[in-house]
Amino acid sequence: MKEDPEALVAAANEARRFAHAPYSGFRVGCAVVDEGGNMYRGCNVENAAYPEGICAEANAIGTMIASGGKRIAAIAAVGGRDEIEPCSPCGGCRQRILEFADQHTRVFMIGPDGEIQAHTIGDLLPTSFRL
Ligand code: THU
Repeated sequence: MKEDPEALVAAANEARRFAHAPYSGFRVGCAVVDEGGNMYRGCNVENAAYPEGICAEANAIGTMIASGGKRIAAIAAVGGRDEIEPCSPCGGCRQRILEFADQHTRVFMIGPDGEIQAHTIGDLLPTSFRL
């Protein structure tokens, strides 16, 4: 099933291994599946000029678009310093997700007990900006 939470979290974890986070030490991985079932991954890529750093979600979504994917069916992000910690997409990434999703699109993340939580982007970004 293309929106399988465990598979998406596992793929996000794999991408997290490649995170470049020497400044924060907080490594994030992300996996996106599009409506055709294709999966794309991303990790955070920090920079010595701190504001130039890129979030894992932005990278995964950018890879989806650059690969011809159109719409996010589901997305997972995992992050942490040494071990995985609860990690919720930042405000900017919520807006990035919504650009290619609808209110009901599911966003998977790790909760306080290490469990996979499922949210919708509509819950995470209510009354969002749209043109
Ligand atoms: N980060 C992400 O990659 N995604 C988020 O949604 C939140 C934060 C990254 C940015 C930075 O490299 C590190 O986590 C610490 O903020």
